[in-house]
Amino acid sequence: MSSTSPATRAAAAHHPELALSGVRPAIGRIPLENISSLARGGFGDRDIIPLWFGEGDVAAPPFIAEAMTRAIAAGEVFYTHQNGIPALRQALATYLSGLGQRAITADRITVTASGMYAIMLAVQLIAEPGDSILVIDPVWPNMGGMAQLVGANVRSVCMDHGPGGWTLDVDKVAAAIDPTVKAVFYASPGNPTGAMIPMATQGALLDLCRRRGVWLIADEVYNRLAFGRRAADTILDLAEPEDRVLVINSFSKSWAMTGWRLGWLTHPPSLGPTLAMAVQYTTSGVTTFLQHAGVAAVEEGEPFVAFMRDYCQNGVEIVCDALEGFGRVRLGPRPAAGMYAFFEVDGMPDARAACLDILAATQVGLAPGVFFGPGSESFLRLCVCRSPEVLRTAMGRLEKVLR
Ligand SMILES: Cc1ncc(COP(=O)(O)O)c(C=O)c1O
Repeated sequence: MSSTSPATRAAAAHHPELALSGVRPAIGRIPLENISSLARGGFGDRDIIPLWFGEGDVAAPPFIAEAMTRAIAAGEVFYTHQNGIPALRQALATYLSGLGQRAITADRITVTASGMYAIMLAVQLIAEPGDSILVIDPVWPNMGGMAQLVGANVRSVCMDHGPGGWTLDVDKVAAAIDPTVKAVFYASPGNPTGAMIPMATQGALLDLCRRRGVWLIADEVYNRLAFGRRAADTILDLAEPEDRVLVINSFSKSWAMTGWRLGWLTHPPSLGPTLAMAVQYTTSGVTTFLQHAGVAAVEEGEPFVAFMRDYCQNGVEIVCDALEGFGRVRLGPRPAAGMYAFFEVDGMPDARAACLDILAATQVGLAPGVFFGPGSESFLRLCVCRSPEVLRTAMGRLEKVLR
């Protein structure tokens, strides 16, 4: 016999959005549209050149998958350490110590199920409903989305855009920190700007956050895709271990592992047990055998990381050479790092509408600036991490509408 009455069943059946109306209002206020939803209609369409996402056409090298299958064969298929397997935490600590100026210890690493998950942990640690996270724009939208998921507000400070490219005025950040602000978030190298925030500016941000008692969350997911150098500057060179600084990182970009969902958070050592607790109550840990793939990537992947950096730099050159020849495009200095060109087109003030028109006319998928923060509505983002042939074809198609 059913435990519900016919009357309550009938009421539910006739209320088409009964379940949805029970979702928290803060969630209901988050727009459903994002780059993925805009692109959904084009998924699997082989005629479309998909330059709208932050991923390329290169898969992770086979030795990484081989390490994972070896781990499965060896029985690494059970629950494991909440902060990550010791081998991967140590491999990442050694890797970071070798990249920067300071030694990073393994107790400062928590392995996460993606860079995005590292952002989620950071926000959950810091923000309560009604708090604010101050986001340096233009930036990839997911930090803002995550803040909204926990009921926090998103404040924005826009970088200045001039003939020298994108620059950050730390005084504007200082002016925007009110008592509700619990963290400042920035990405360097930037997505979508490809700009690197100079070490002196990062230091000024750190000083500001120390003085005001707020967290600094640095997203360094693109730090190995810095053109012509081994790595971009890292805040880890400036921060003391117990500073309120969290650094987001990921295997997605440098090791071409977007679909693997593996990343890490570098944090003060005192947070280790708290993060272990937070992991326990969410995923209970990152897929055990995947973490062994991560060890292989970190320990043997340097040639591949260098390849990815050069691949993106070559992509930037092909795309920017073409864009600079299109009379209506305003590009500014070429990106110094990352995977993207970010530009405006005269006569196309609404980039969202422009992306849809461009897709219909050329079958090239671009991302509109509206997703990267207030002030970017007229910009288009193009991912350059594709083969030279594909990029030349894409630019040939775009010439029809952008020249
Ligand atoms: C700036 C930035 N941070 C974090 C991420 C998230 O990376 P992951 O794929 O590991 O979630 C991305 C992905 O595009 C990104 O652009």
